[in-house]
Amino acid sequence: MRRRSFLTALALAGLAGCDTAAGPVTSGFGNRLRIPPLLDPPVDASGVRRFELALRRGQTEFLPGRPVDTWGINGTYLGPTLRARRGDRVAFAVANRVGDPTTLHWHGMRLPAVMDGGPHQVIAPDSIWSPEWTIDQRAATCWYHPHPHEQTARHVYRGLAGLFLLDDPDAPELPRQYGVDDIPVIIQDKRFDQRGAMIESFDGTFGLTGDTVLVNGTLGPFLDITTTRVRFRLLNASNARIYGVGFADRRTFQVIATDSGLLPAPVDADRVVLSPGERLEIVAEFTPGEQVLLRSTGDTSDGANAIERGDFDLVSLNAEPRLRQVPPVPAVLSTEPPIHPAPNARVRRFVLTGFEINHRPMDLTRIDEVVPAGAQEIWEIDNTTYTHNFHIHDAAFRVLQVNGAEPEAYLRGPKDTVYVPKLAKVRLAVRFGTHTDPRTPYMYHCHILRHEDQGMMGQFVVVAPGTEDGVSRQLPAPA
Ligand code: C2O
Ligand code: CU
Ligand code: CU
Repeated sequence: MRRRSFLTALALAGLAGCDTAAGPVTSGFGNRLRIPPLLDPPVDASGVRRFELALRRGQTEFLPGRPVDTWGINGTYLGPTLRARRGDRVAFAVANRVGDPTTLHWHGMRLPAVMDGGPHQVIAPDSIWSPEWTIDQRAATCWYHPHPHEQTARHVYRGLAGLFLLDDPDAPELPRQYGVDDIPVIIQDKRFDQRGAMIESFDGTFGLTGDTVLVNGTLGPFLDITTTRVRFRLLNASNARIYGVGFADRRTFQVIATDSGLLPAPVDADRVVLSPGERLEIVAEFTPGEQVLLRSTGDTSDGANAIERGDFDLVSLNAEPRLRQVPPVPAVLSTEPPIHPAPNARVRRFVLTGFEINHRPMDLTRIDEVVPAGAQEIWEIDNTTYTHNFHIHDAAFRVLQVNGAEPEAYLRGPKDTVYVPKLAKVRLAVRFGTHTDPRTPYMYHCHILRHEDQGMMGQFVVVAPGTEDGVSRQLPAPA
């Protein structure tokens, strides 16, 4: 076809062999964007949707002819996209075949703490973990990834991550034909050595920052656009990097959803920022025959840290000469009332320093916060140092303020992860879940995986209202 690939030339140059550190790998958009397979099992006789996931080692050819060691779920790199509906009973068999203990966390999901897949739900090598719960939340783009104590950076970087799409019969009509007008965009930065292997060096202030970006595990991807409108589900699944996503021609698109669900109404934007763990859904329009790049542009302000800088091409989008019509995005997307704590709501403060929250490193045996079920509270994040972000398990929040001002309009939807720039103060209205368990904590943490692994994490339990005072703050040491 008309597209030319520079990959072969690069592979040959590499084979000729020089041992200096490899630079960024550029590819010329020669590879079709990989769409992770959809796993959407039918409801079985007992009324349950059963998913089987196998975490395993394998080899992946990011560069043709250059298989390198990776980890994957039901494959060799990344995992399938899971799909379930509000009200579904879902059950999983998660087999750990990577040889190391790990976990699998359902990021963005409201569920009992023992099913959460945090550092307490360890899956021993060669064993199977079987969580099960009922989906009780609105339409959202969630994701899943390992969360082992001090090892999350390595396990995610090697390739263990995937999307988990939640549908809601009450949600309005939106593009939802997976891989056609509803496209996953999983963004990850990598560093490759001369042989094409992924370099793993997770130390330093931010851990690993790559000079090469993969989308859905594809290097230099292109995508054929076949419809007039396309929904892109953006996920920053990188260890540390922050992306400013938009189109090369700076066209306006509509943001329709934040991490945890639909915005009340679509918001126009031409660049959206995602820190690790954040998701955004956007809808863009295309004209027949055009070609445009989806790309990321860095923050060039003086205050930006290394992880906020850097420009990357993401996907070359090539519209076919004839496009199928997709209706416009409805003017109203969600009528869910915004999270709105009472004026006398409890306020908790979290001070972020280098690798700590409230001057304490993560301790698996310590309960840091006790929260009554269903509570709505104000959480204030005060970053006294360089770039961080903040994620809360099982909860949804609304960003009230960033440095005293309202956040950008596209960030006003329900979220579970928020970017906390250098020295910023962020104020959140948080709504907690209703599953109680005084002995099994949920996590809150910085989602820059180096920071998370260094102990920038705390634990909270959700308990029956009125029982907070009797809850033990001490857990037994893990086996
Ligand atoms: Cu995406 Cu506690 O994690
Ligand atoms: Cu999470
Ligand atoms: Cu951090």
